[in-house]
Formats: sequence, C-alpha cells, structure tokens
Amino acid sequence: MSTTSSIQTIFRDHLFAGKSALITGGGTGIGLRCARELARLGAKVVLAGRTREKLEQAVAGISEQGGEAHAVVCNIREAEDIESGIAESIRLMGGLDLLVNNAGGQFPSPAEDIPRKGWNAVIDTNLTGTFFTTQEAFRQHMRSHGGAVVNIIADMWQGFPMMAHTGAARAGVDNLTKTLANEWGRHGIRINAVAPGIIETSGLERYDPMVRPFIEEAAKNNQTRRMGTEAEVAAAVTFLLSPAASYITGVTLRVDGGQSIFHPLCPPQGDGKMPVFEDTFDRVQDGSVP
Ligand code: ADE
Repeated sequence: MSTTSSIQTIFRDHLFAGKSALITGGGTGIGLRCARELARLGAKVVLAGRTREKLEQAVAGISEQGGEAHAVVCNIREAEDIESGIAESIRLMGGLDLLVNNAGGQFPSPAEDIPRKGWNAVIDTNLTGTFFTTQEAFRQHMRSHGGAVVNIIADMWQGFPMMAHTGAARAGVDNLTKTLANEWGRHGIRINAVAPGIIETSGLERYDPMVRPFIEEAAKNNQTRRMGTEAEVAAAVTFLLSPAASYITGVTLRVDGGQSIFHPLCPPQGDGKMPVFEDTFDRVQDGSVP
C-alpha cells in the first residue's frame, strides 16, 4: 500500500514548504496522486470536487501521513461554486500559489450520437470550468501574488475518436494554456499543461467493462507497451509546478510513453522494456482492490 510519506518521489523534501495548492478533481485518481505528492513535499493542499465523502476520505489519508489537506466541495460547472470554492481555499490555506486543473469528465460515444446535453456537460466541465477556475484564482490571489498552474488535458493530438467532446475541450485548454501564459506572465504566473496518454487510474472503472479490452489494446500503442501510472503523471505535474520549471511557461508536456508520436514506419513492438515509476493507484490505497 502506498502512503503520502512512503510514495516514491524524485523531488527533495520541503520543496513546496509554505506553498498552498488547490487541486480540482482532487478526491481520486490523478488529482489525488498530485495532491499526495505536493503534500509529501510540504505544500498545504485543498482537494476540490463534487463529492464530500470522497474528498474527506482522501484528506484523511493525507492527514494520517502528516500532510496538511482540506476538502472543499465545489462543482466547477457552477460560477458561484468556483467563486466560493477559491475563497474558501485561500481562507483555509492562507494563500493560493499552485493550481492543478484536473477536474474533468467525459463519456465514450460515436460523434453522431452525442446528445447536446452531454456535449454541453463535457465542454462545461473540461473547458469552461477550467477557464473560470483559473480566472477566479487569478482574480482572488495570483494577480497580486504570482503562482503556477498546470492544466491536465489528454492525448487528443490526432483527434479523439469516440470522444469528440472531450477532444475539442482539451484542445481548447491546450490553447488556453498558451494564451494565459502570455497574458499573465507579467504577474509572475506560469501556466503549463500535462497531456497524459492512457493511464491506469480509478477513472477507468467508470467506463463500460466492454470498453476495457479496447483500452488495454490501445495502451500497447506506445514505446513502453503499457499504460502509464498516476505517479508518472503526478511527477510531471510536480516538476512543472516547482521552481525547477521557473523558465517554462506555455508548454504542454506529453506523458504518454510516446503514444502521440506513433509512426507507421516504426510501430511500437516487443514486451516493453521501460520500468514503471510507481504502479500503485487509488483503488489499491482505498482497499477496493487487493
Ligand atoms: N470532477 C469531475 N467533474 C467535476 C466538476 N464538475 N466539478 C469538480 N470536480 C469534478
């Protein structure tokens, strides 16, 4: 079982001491893994999400290991929630230096069948929610104090078959990352993105089990021949938030094992020889799988 203090980290202790971090969609999956890493390195963290129970369970896990964590219930589709959620986060932590826009959601569907309501919901969460959360963090704190933001997007570089809505939204966030990096650099704010490939995360369970074999097959289409881990994504997020990335803004770092550079002249082959950084994830921590 992996814990906040025993998680593998390549970063030095206390790297984020005195820093305050808000992670949306922080109760599970990649968001929680980022929160655990940041807390392990000394940051105060707020986990924001829609489900209090999940958030509190995650907060308890971090607190048990000596990290400072808080739960803030916030639906990023609601303007008032964003405004009050950011204010509450600043109140709880005494500031807001780091923001991880991880909250997102989508459902697989052929483009021709996506209903307007589903389309709007996905755009609302992944694109609009991400933008207004960042805008509110800017208005309430970062404009006058600086900060660092990481947006979690996806491997949508060749389009996103069966996920037209989220592909469009994530491409929008990729562009937003560059716009905001240009507009807000003068305020001491860096904004970058991380684009994960296929990651072994608790979020995969929400898909129909019929889809799982397709995902497993697709996950061999990269040079590691496996899925990525939450820890591998969190390591990239942590780096981009850290002072070590102080000369990096407006970039999207692909954490996809090379999936997005697939070339038909040299397709991935073999058993995969690249080691995994850390293969534990939420489902293991919360005991839902052995
Ligand atoms: N995670 C997934 N969807 C979300 C939303 N609308 N608000 C906050 N966290 C989320």
